[in-house]
Amino acid sequence: MSYNLLKGKRGIIFGALNEQSIAWKVAEKAVQEGAMITLSNTSVAVRMGEVSALADKLNCEVIPADATSVEDLETVFKRSMEVLGGQIDFVLHSIGMSPNVRKKRPYDDLDYGMLSQTFDISAVSFHKMIQTAKKLDAIAEYGSILALSYVAAQRTFFGYNDMADAKALLESIARSFGYIYGREHNVRVNTISQSPTMTTAGSGVKGMDKLFDFADRMSPLGNASADDCADYCIVMFSDLTRKVTMQNLFHDGGFSSIGMSLRAMATYEKGIDDEFKDENGKIIYG
Ligand SMILES: NC(=O)c1ccc[n+]([C@@H]2O[C@H](COP(=O)([O-])OP(=O)(O)OC[C@H]3O[C@@H](n4cnc5c(N)ncnc54)[C@H](O)[C@@H]3O)[C@@H](O)[C@H]2O)c1
Repeated sequence: MSYNLLKGKRGIIFGALNEQSIAWKVAEKAVQEGAMITLSNTSVAVRMGEVSALADKLNCEVIPADATSVEDLETVFKRSMEVLGGQIDFVLHSIGMSPNVRKKRPYDDLDYGMLSQTFDISAVSFHKMIQTAKKLDAIAEYGSILALSYVAAQRTFFGYNDMADAKALLESIARSFGYIYGREHNVRVNTISQSPTMTTAGSGVKGMDKLFDFADRMSPLGNASADDCADYCIVMFSDLTRKVTMQNLFHDGGFSSIGMSLRAMATYEKGIDDEFKDENGKIIYG
């Protein structure tokens, strides 16, 4: 069902790789809601992924860009304004990658070159995106810029590794730039902290299937899906949220406010500890 929430708006969606991608769902819903959009992803992702099929379906242009390159980002904003015929009303940063996670380097044995890449791709690219847009005066008054985060930015989750630090930086950039862009052009900058979601990036997280199940059982409303996340993004792009800025908005079925659920307590009482003791009875910490 469409509410025409984005009628006449122009948007750029970064990070749609395949049908599972959160950005893919956002792109589909944005067009359903009346927006005109462009898509962007790395050249490799455009070549190897399915983003061109999405572009054909939605009748929009794909502009390849490495989000760590300011030059590439300038091309995306300039070309998008050309193709869409004016300033941009909304931007989605749906980008994340950690070489340390990929190479299975644990948090207490990180490669620092890879850590810099994690930060650059997953967080600093958000700053580069906003700074580039601002310098080009590419965002319309009351425009909305969003990035996707995860609760591990604020609480420790086994296996999330250096992505936790990248997400903390991402959320901080939303606040710092939200202040400046809000004061000068009424542009909103926020992050949405999404439930674990079965996507290509999500599946890279150590123990993702168990984490997904745990979060689903702990959350009173269950995990939010990629489709649910897209709905929330649309509301955040719409004029219904013109005064929301500098926020990290939890979209997780209530997970972030739960300490202990009845079900988790019952499972704990069944003796989960036993599985995590070594042969001498000492607890193994994960
Ligand atoms: N899946 C989850 O459990 C989950 C939960 C919370 C937040 N998120 C966040 O949602 C966002 C989208 O991830 P997803 O789960 O849809 O997975 P996804 O793998 O579909 O999307 C990640 C995207 O990042 C792109 N990317 C990687 N390096 C890039 C670069 N240098 N320049 C431009 N693009 C680049 C990839 O090509 C891909 O399209 C990420 O920020 C992720 O951290 C995901």
